[in-house]
Amino acid sequence: MGRLELSPRLRSVAELVPLGARLADVGTDHAYLPAWLLREGRVAAAVVSDLRPGPLDRARQTAERFGLTGRMDFRLCDGLSGLSPGEADTVVIAGMGGETIASILAAAPWSREAGRTLVLQPMSAQEDLRLWLMEHDCRIVREVLSREGETLYVALLVTAGEMGPLTPAELWAGRQSREDPLRGLYLEKLIGKTERAAAGLRAARGGDPVRLASREEVRAGHRQM
Ligand SMILES: C[S@@+](CC[C@H](N)C(=O)[O-])C[C@H]1O[C@@H](n2cnc3c(N)ncnc32)[C@H](O)[C@@H]1O
Repeated sequence: MGRLELSPRLRSVAELVPLGARLADVGTDHAYLPAWLLREGRVAAAVVSDLRPGPLDRARQTAERFGLTGRMDFRLCDGLSGLSPGEADTVVIAGMGGETIASILAAAPWSREAGRTLVLQPMSAQEDLRLWLMEHDCRIVREVLSREGETLYVALLVTAGEMGPLTPAELWAGRQSREDPLRGLYLEKLIGKTERAAAGLRAARGGDPVRLASREEVRAGHRQM
């Protein structure tokens, strides 16, 4: 059967899943996350979905390998379209771009109702996802960082409810705990990225002054964090 170890990124996602959850893992691919959570007895049930048959076959293989066939439900579908609201109280969407995550949530308003938990791990466009959440009555309760080699990842614990407005700097950098040991490095990397973006906009002939002002505001905000 072998041991099932999660990478630091998936481990940080797993730590945000409430104990006893009825889990939906959207875009599951190899299904390592739900397999680990089921084996550790941390979730009561798991439905896994993927848009493509290949990844869903990998998920079935993982379930078989770890003796979980019959404890995982498989759905070949776009986002949450193949699930009914009664099947899950916790939805994980990890390893996808922030815009894709937002479009999956937009298509399934039930996933954002009171009493549900979302665990989101965007690989890009974190600022777009935070903005989308803020505009759709979702509250970021916690943000955690993880590191694999030189790459840092952020995972968000989200519930229904209003969140105070985020400043442009917070949209970019999030609101992780100041105690998070990776926060300094995360901010450094973001500052580098926003400085390169602002320099590019300044250099571009006819650069968009509104975008430039927003990047400058982000840089100023970072310095105060
Ligand atoms: C990079 S993998 C991430 C796998 C796993 N969630 C993780 O974090 O390690 C992204 C997976 O999401 C699937 N996917 C992309 N868009 C999707 C959508 N709209 N609905 C369901 N699955 C989707 C892809 O087919 C792929 O298997």
